[in-house]
Amino acid sequence: MVNTYTELSDYYDLIMTSGYYDYAAYAAELAELLQGCRDVLELGVGTGLVCERLLRHSIDGLRLTGLDHTESMLAQARARLGERVQLLNQDIRQLDLPASFDGAFSVGGVWAHYRTGTEAALGSHLPDHDSNVSALRRLHASLRPGAVLLIAVQRPHDDYEHVLPNGLVYEQRVKTLSGDRLVKDYYLRQDGRVVAHQQCVFRVLSESRGNGLLQQCGFRFTGVSPKGNFYAYRTGPQGPRAGHGGPGDTIPG
Ligand SMILES: C[S@@+](CC[C@H](N)C(=O)[O-])C[C@H]1O[C@@H](n2cnc3c(N)ncnc32)[C@H](O)[C@@H]1O
Repeated sequence: MVNTYTELSDYYDLIMTSGYYDYAAYAAELAELLQGCRDVLELGVGTGLVCERLLRHSIDGLRLTGLDHTESMLAQARARLGERVQLLNQDIRQLDLPASFDGAFSVGGVWAHYRTGTEAALGSHLPDHDSNVSALRRLHASLRPGAVLLIAVQRPHDDYEHVLPNGLVYEQRVKTLSGDRLVKDYYLRQDGRVVAHQQCVFRVLSESRGNGLLQQCGFRFTGVSPKGNFYAYRTGPQGPRAGHGGPGDTIPG
């Protein structure tokens, strides 16, 4: 398995809730964008931080499913979310669900957009082209026609260091590799000693190549969300259009 979060999972919540992501902003905009959706899938649910905040918005009839392939992350999500979210231990490359979802989203999960100047590159936890194509096609097959896919925009992968509570220091170091990939090392240090280290290899494509890949797999780019937190896509040409009562009607396009 590539890019599991096993080594980082004990420290994950501490790192992420110490200012890495603005979960409240993501959840508030997701709650607006997912109005009208019933069954929604989170791609890379992790420890359940996004779902927990999204549930606070009490969207009528919303049923959440979270997918992840790191058991130690899912164990925390189960403890956090209980029965409120269906959690699946699955690698998205083997995704095999019926076409029952009205929406899917990824917040730093399997896919993400990284701000790079005026555009946002598409980043993927799947480091090679073929895995991205087959995972996106499988995702497409699990979504209803006209369903919405929302990919969050986040800080770029760059060198970064941040002091956490309990004398811990989080540090990430990024190196560009050939073939549209970058390698990211995550370190947790205490008193100068490394207490956790994880490495992930990401695939990173320019915005236009990323949108081309998604288009190839049946996802039409419909615009950036009003608050700028998400790139929005819809499946299939025959889906309901904005203003016709379909899921995600607040999204441009
Ligand atoms: C940075 S975490 C984001 C977690 C959560 N969305 C959040 O915002 O806190 C990325 C998650 O994606 C999961 N992931 C990476 N590759 C995956 C794959 N191929 N299939 C399923 N999950 C994957 C990792 O296990 C990890 O939990």
